[in-house]
Amino acid sequence: MMKKVRLGVVGCGGIVQSAHSKAIAAEMENGRLELTATCDIIIERAENAAKLWDAQHVTDNWETMVDHVDAVLIALPHDLHHACGKFFLEHGKHVMMEKPLATTEPDCIDLIETSHRVNKTLMVGYPWRYRESAYFIKDLIDSKKYGELFQCSMWTEQYTKMEGSWGNTKKGLGGGQFFSHGCHYIDWLLWMLGEPEYGIHFGNRLGTPWMEGEGTSQAMIQFKSGVLAYHGGTWGARGTKLAYGFHFHFTEGMVEYDHHSGKIYLHTKLADHIPGEEGSNQKTELIYECVSGKNVVPEMAWFLDCILEGKKPLTTPEESLQGLRVIWRMYEAERDKKIANLSGLGLENDWKAVAPVENPCWEEWA
Ligand SMILES: NC(=O)c1ccc[n+]([C@@H]2O[C@H](COP(=O)([O-])OP(=O)(O)OC[C@H]3O[C@@H](n4cnc5c(N)ncnc54)[C@H](O)[C@@H]3O)[C@@H](O)[C@H]2O)c1
Repeated sequence: MMKKVRLGVVGCGGIVQSAHSKAIAAEMENGRLELTATCDIIIERAENAAKLWDAQHVTDNWETMVDHVDAVLIALPHDLHHACGKFFLEHGKHVMMEKPLATTEPDCIDLIETSHRVNKTLMVGYPWRYRESAYFIKDLIDSKKYGELFQCSMWTEQYTKMEGSWGNTKKGLGGGQFFSHGCHYIDWLLWMLGEPEYGIHFGNRLGTPWMEGEGTSQAMIQFKSGVLAYHGGTWGARGTKLAYGFHFHFTEGMVEYDHHSGKIYLHTKLADHIPGEEGSNQKTELIYECVSGKNVVPEMAWFLDCILEGKKPLTTPEESLQGLRVIWRMYEAERDKKIANLSGLGLENDWKAVAPVENPCWEEWA
């Protein structure tokens, strides 16, 4: 009989309740996972999660979980990621760390090196890269099915007002919206488009005065291939049309990924723009349909494959650090009113061969 992974959940808040609970249920159903321990400093949250999964060990102190688990899912405020991840790795446990890996480069490096030394999986929770839609789009880019990609436009507009939460603070978050949420898209873009060359970022708090850091973030990157990519995100949207919208412009058409419906469309044959005239004869066809919304089921499945079958995470901590370095360089350049040079930040194989990149927000705010 296949061994079941004994999983513990540290931090039983929003993301665990809304997303991971479905993935945990799916893998319990598959017989690959047993939820043995839950932890939250708000003990009722740990108790509620334990009831849901029949976990026997319920605690507000993660150190007491050690004998009950083979692996942990860490879904804590960002400034606790390093301490908690380090503790479980040092005790020989596999770790799935919700993004971002940690709030400073030394802490990220420490986690990476510890995972190597103890030879346990350290996987970062960037669910976009585990979804079918991501593979489908990457394949369109690599195969040049619709010609050369020249522009990615990414919008994520939502209203996120976490009253009195760590998520509003510079220290708890380790930055602003770009660091906390934009990290998903930087990671996704680096995977799709390879090495970045230059970047600029602007953020503000105008629509999100509850945030200590920026709540609205505009980031633009030029890749070495020449492709341009843009992520505009806000936690202050009082209304939106696109919500989560992704447009990939190829020389033979535009591919649109509608995250909420899980549908991918190809838009082509746009009529030449004639100034003063409206309308176009654009042709739109549905080219792919997949599971919609915040789906972390494939991510959890991959984590278990790493533990049970020795697979490597798609979202390695080394790559994850590279994405955070991009963000830190762009924050630095924003502070100094410069364009960020994003060369030489260390690819996976030489992730250490890079001058240290400080988190300017952390330095300023700690
Ligand atoms: N993948 C995604 O799309 C996604 C979406 C949202 C959040 N996240 C990430 O998930 C993590 C958690 O975010 P969230 O939105 O669920 O936050 P949350 O505040 O809802 O949950 C965090 C939980 O940690 C608990 N906690 C705090 N300190 C603790 C301690 N010392 N010991 C034990 N428990 C403690 C809190 O009581 C809370 O229940 C963050 O890393 C966040 O960036 C990921």
